[in-house]
Amino acid sequence: MKKVLVTGGCGYIGSHTIIDLIDNGFEVISVDNNVNSDLKALRGIQSITDKLVKNYTIDLCDLEKTRKIFSNDKIDGVIHFAALKSVGESVFEPIRYFHNNLNSLLNILTCCKEFGVDNLIFSSSCSVYGNAKDLPVTELTPFEHAECPYARTKQMGENIIEDFCVPNKEFKAILLRYFNPAGAHESGLIGEAPSNKASNLVPVITETAIGKRESMTVFGNDYGTRDGSCIRDYIHVMDLANAHTKAIQYLLGDENQQNCEVYNLGIGEGVTVLEAINAFEKVTGQKLNYTIGERRAGDVEAIYANLNKAEQNLGWKPSRNIEDIMKSAWIWEKNRTETVLQS
Ligand code: NAD
Ligand code: WQD
Repeated sequence: MKKVLVTGGCGYIGSHTIIDLIDNGFEVISVDNNVNSDLKALRGIQSITDKLVKNYTIDLCDLEKTRKIFSNDKIDGVIHFAALKSVGESVFEPIRYFHNNLNSLLNILTCCKEFGVDNLIFSSSCSVYGNAKDLPVTELTPFEHAECPYARTKQMGENIIEDFCVPNKEFKAILLRYFNPAGAHESGLIGEAPSNKASNLVPVITETAIGKRESMTVFGNDYGTRDGSCIRDYIHVMDLANAHTKAIQYLLGDENQQNCEVYNLGIGEGVTVLEAINAFEKVTGQKLNYTIGERRAGDVEAIYANLNKAEQNLGWKPSRNIEDIMKSAWIWEKNRTETVLQS
């Protein structure tokens, strides 16, 4: 059984990916210092898979402690999710973002080299494209100016891994650029539960519908899009999770591959903010309380992915749409609100 180290395994995308990895026969260990999560996700994973995943509560910026993980466990590959991810926060705390996101990556690469672990998957982001000029974006679309320090940590992270691959010929890396991950595991037992206040569209919608917020704001309806609101490519977190399983299988397999490959992960279609709200109202029967407000600083008008490369090389294709996202996000919101009320 191949053993995968998932960094950030208690976090949103990491926890969903662990389920898909276990379902596909991988043994998983996690490392997470819970700076933006807690251990509840591991209990959710246990309820779903019947497996208790071991977590090292370690800050990956500590090289000595990170080394201990690699010396305790014989690892076949690493999926490196751990990072700070708030766009807004990164503008006010750039040093913290550069320190955390870059030092943790450097330590992972150092340990990979020292312990002979040759397979790495890195969580990158569509934010590396900045304000892309041509849509849909392909993996060859050039990086534009990073709109925030967080996005710059992803551009720099990609560059660091590319440079690391040059002298380390046996090392293979896959850089996955996620578009807008959303939704939850269909069981409603795990989902997005950030320690910080949610600011992404889907949790804002579900929190408004359940009454945690009185109303929500649609940031602008005067863009040059079909209904005036911004367009994004929302990808269901379980489809995204499965892309990681496909990517690690590809790395561990003997397909001809370059030692550093990049893939876009979205659904390849743009959805406007108002369409997302309509989808929520349709699948839940809830009327959402929202108003139209000013544009949000830093928002790009539209971005969505070209997925051809992931389909061709990884054999991965998303199967869920915005309605599936809203359905699962709503089940999760109701479950977690009930749990909080009961405790
Ligand atoms: P998340 O915050 O839910 O998960 C990240 C986890 O990493 C958290 O549990 C956090 O506690 C942990 N962590 C952070 N720094 C750490 C450190 N130094 N040592 C140990 N653990 C640490 O975020 P997520 O949404 O699951 O995102 C996972 C990855 O995907 C991140 O790299 C993020 O930048 C990237 N990404 C996320 C999105 C998104 O919208 N969610 C989009 C594109 C890319
Ligand atoms: C989506 C759309 C908002 C909230 C961010 C990061 C990106 C990546 C994914 C990490 C936009 C609109 C939102 C609200 C709204 N993350 N909106 N009212 O900004 O596309 O991408 O997450 O890598 O780097 O920037 O996602 O969910 O915040 O916004 O109208 O209350 O919803 O204007 O058009 P975004 P989002």
